[in-house]
Amino acid sequence: MKVLVIHGPKLDRLGERDPVHYGTQTLDEVNAYIEEVATELGFEAEIHQSADEAEIVALLETADVAGAVVNPAAFSHTSSTIADAIAGVAYPVVEVHLSNIHAREEWRRRSVTAESSAGIVAGFKAESYALGLRALKRLLEGG
Ligand code: DQA
Repeated sequence: MKVLVIHGPKLDRLGERDPVHYGTQTLDEVNAYIEEVATELGFEAEIHQSADEAEIVALLETADVAGAVVNPAAFSHTSSTIADAIAGVAYPVVEVHLSNIHAREEWRRRSVTAESSAGIVAGFKAESYALGLRALKRLLEGG
């Protein structure tokens, strides 16, 4: 079963960017962990990173997948375009954040994209992606 994983803007800088909030693992290391957990769950993960809102929308809209785990990064707080794209796809989308966005600056506490998502996991660094994949598996099994 194929699943889409999208990392939004600046997540290519993981490892060097604000390790207190985002952890010390690089994006390659996080992706290796995502692949490992996906395989364990019987998923095949198609992973992308993009800082381009239009590209993220196109990825969501053209994917032939059972579900998606998406970290829209800063777009979470502003992008009604990505929120609309998530609302328009036929498969479930789980939103994930490495940091606990509710325990940070006021402007990070609202996620407009989460309003269209099936659920949200935040605050567990790379483990948020693993938990997001597990939640997606449950959703797809009707749980
Ligand atoms: C983030 C949280 C966002 O507020 C921030 O802009 C990011 C990463 C997270 O994973 O914790 O780039 O989505």
